[in-house]
Amino acid sequence: MDYQTILVERRARVGLITLNRPKALNALNDALIDELGAALNGFEHDDDIGAIVITGSEKAFAAGADISAMADWDYIDVYKSDFITRNWERIKSCRKPIIAAVAGFALGGGCELAMMCDIIIAADTARFGQPEVKLGILPGAGGTQRLPRAIGKAKAMDLCLTARMMDALEAERAGLVSRVVPAERLLDEALAAADTIASYSLPVVMMIKESVNRAYESSLAEGLLFERRVFHAAFSLADKREGMSAFLEKRAARFTHR
Ligand code: CAA
Repeated sequence: MDYQTILVERRARVGLITLNRPKALNALNDALIDELGAALNGFEHDDDIGAIVITGSEKAFAAGADISAMADWDYIDVYKSDFITRNWERIKSCRKPIIAAVAGFALGGGCELAMMCDIIIAADTARFGQPEVKLGILPGAGGTQRLPRAIGKAKAMDLCLTARMMDALEAERAGLVSRVVPAERLLDEALAAADTIASYSLPVVMMIKESVNRAYESSLAEGLLFERRVFHAAFSLADKREGMSAFLEKRAARFTHR
């Protein structure tokens, strides 16, 4: 497929998607979100891809939904088109692990897009925020829901109500990002983490993602039950036999992703 707003590459078993609207700081218009969905679809259905990295530019992961596209929209336009749900859902529903490698601005929908991913690795230049209040709207792609779950109510309220930005170190302290790395190392670190994930059994990796996400969707008792069922199911995998044999035989496992 010929993409206009993103770059799509494969690095061994890792799918790399680079948001690429530099003049608009990777503002997320429908074209970009549709292309991102198509690229994720391609990687999801490709057995040779075990993990995905989404990144932006040095200056911006993404500065939010495209304000110039939204400026003329009325209630009925966004309601009828089901703006956000219509095409952003594809990111959320991807079953393979996605790492967001964030440098520069991750604002509004950009912060929300990063939070839809499974791991956020931040460059020391990263800045996160939900500045929609300044535009006379509110976060619409999960900011008011995922941010408090990630960093707690006090900081989420602070960011959403004042529109202030949080730097990478504050984001790490608050639990939004898993690691902060020097900007020049960002892509290498994210690709290395994705490569490690992709070297493990793909069905097990998918089960882990599904189980961790359950922690946000269910009670502890239901989450534990779900984990137990999936844990039992993992014992049917050839990769379980291989992983344990390899340990006992003191050699590297050769997973077949089955
Ligand atoms: N939509 C459309 N265009 C955007 C944009 C956005 N979200 N963010 C930046 N741009 C454009 C600017 O209009 C500018 O274009 P021109 O060169 O044609 O004028 C270009 O990108 C560079 O931006 P700036 O000149 O503003 O760059 P800066 O370094 O001075 O400031 C910034 C950077 C602080 C990120 C600033 O651009 C900014 O505040 N952007 C908007 C951030 C925002 O409000 N995001 C939330 C959007 S709403 C949303 O996301 C809803 C939702 O929940 C889904």
